[in-house]
Amino acid sequence: MKFVFVFGNTPQLSLSELKSASPQTTLLSVSLLEYTGALVEMTAEQAMLIAEKLGGTVKLIQLDRQLEEITPVTLADYLLSTDTNQKISFGLSSLNDPDLKVNQLSRDIKRELQDRDIKARFVMPQEGSQLSSVVISKQKVVELAVYKWQNFYLVGKTVWVQDFQEWNRRDYGRPQASGHIGMLPLKVARMMVNLAQVKKGGTILDPYCGVGTVLAEAMVLGYRVFGSDLDAGQVEKTRKNLEWLGAEYNLKFKLQVGDARNVSNILNEKVAAVVTEPDLGPNDLRPQYAPDVQNRLISLYTGSLADWKRILEPLGTVVIALPKLVNDGSIVQAVIDKAEAMGYSLHVHPVDYFRPGAKVRRSIAIFKLKDKN
Ligand SMILES: C[S@@+](CC[C@H](N)C(=O)[O-])C[C@H]1O[C@@H](n2cnc3c(N)ncnc32)[C@H](O)[C@@H]1O
Repeated sequence: MKFVFVFGNTPQLSLSELKSASPQTTLLSVSLLEYTGALVEMTAEQAMLIAEKLGGTVKLIQLDRQLEEITPVTLADYLLSTDTNQKISFGLSSLNDPDLKVNQLSRDIKRELQDRDIKARFVMPQEGSQLSSVVISKQKVVELAVYKWQNFYLVGKTVWVQDFQEWNRRDYGRPQASGHIGMLPLKVARMMVNLAQVKKGGTILDPYCGVGTVLAEAMVLGYRVFGSDLDAGQVEKTRKNLEWLGAEYNLKFKLQVGDARNVSNILNEKVAAVVTEPDLGPNDLRPQYAPDVQNRLISLYTGSLADWKRILEPLGTVVIALPKLVNDGSIVQAVIDKAEAMGYSLHVHPVDYFRPGAKVRRSIAIFKLKDKN
């Protein structure tokens, strides 16, 4: 069965996350321009399981019909073959064919349904070419989707949307919010955890845990988590957040106060991965750091990587958010060079993450410990 994983507002990172969560799956087609998402072939069960884990995918569309022609009749037939209600609310999305006149088609489908004695209404997207997850789930709208593929059209509907209420609850409901400008968004933290590709039951460490955003997302995915931070106040905040989450998920965690460059001394077990957003440098100096600030940060990151070699399992992974200055990736490059000299290999090209106009820009790098260490 063909599915489209529709990405949220971090398409490049969402794509890397999908590839990490489902490494065996062949992506039939990827679009980061017309719409942002990937067309894949997998079973319905697999698709649902994977989508539930992801931070960067907002919708899953199942394309289960192949049509030669897109007309109000063929689309009304499709809609009625999957929906037996006498009253239908629908929306129509054209994923990759700008020539489809979605507005006119929607009106004509409605008329066609009414001719067949079905009460129908349609909803148009408020922005962009697709309905939002909020509209689909709150207004109970069936989203019909059309995907131009080779010489025909694939037609289907949205079968899953990201549970935005649950994400909001974990973000705004937690006892200790981060509050600082440019804080790590929950969904980016989730994507970073998935990029580490740790097997179920494995242990994940965040040695710059802050208020515990990465650890919380790792916990929700069922990993054992260990966190530390130089600042005892931050560790306390993480504790409150994880206790709040743990009470519901019945999950366990371990926390300590300590320097990330010395975490091997406070942790007496190995971890499968380190997933972390370290100190990214002073906000007010961005987008340009003074050379001494750059040097301090490079030394902080490389000092940390040197220590993590002692506590990572063989072939262990580090997923780390590094500061990327506007038009200047020199910190990222310096860390990559030093990490490679230390016995790590860069797993994939780092993926940049930032909102348009943002001062805080991150580049997410993934390192793997080489075999002979
Ligand atoms: C950008 S914040 C991490 C935020 C975290 N991802 C969150 O969502 O809360 C960086 C954290 O690194 C901590 N930190 C700075 N230098 C450190 C060091 N040498 N060792 C451990 N933690 C350190 C700070 O106290 C701060 O909590």
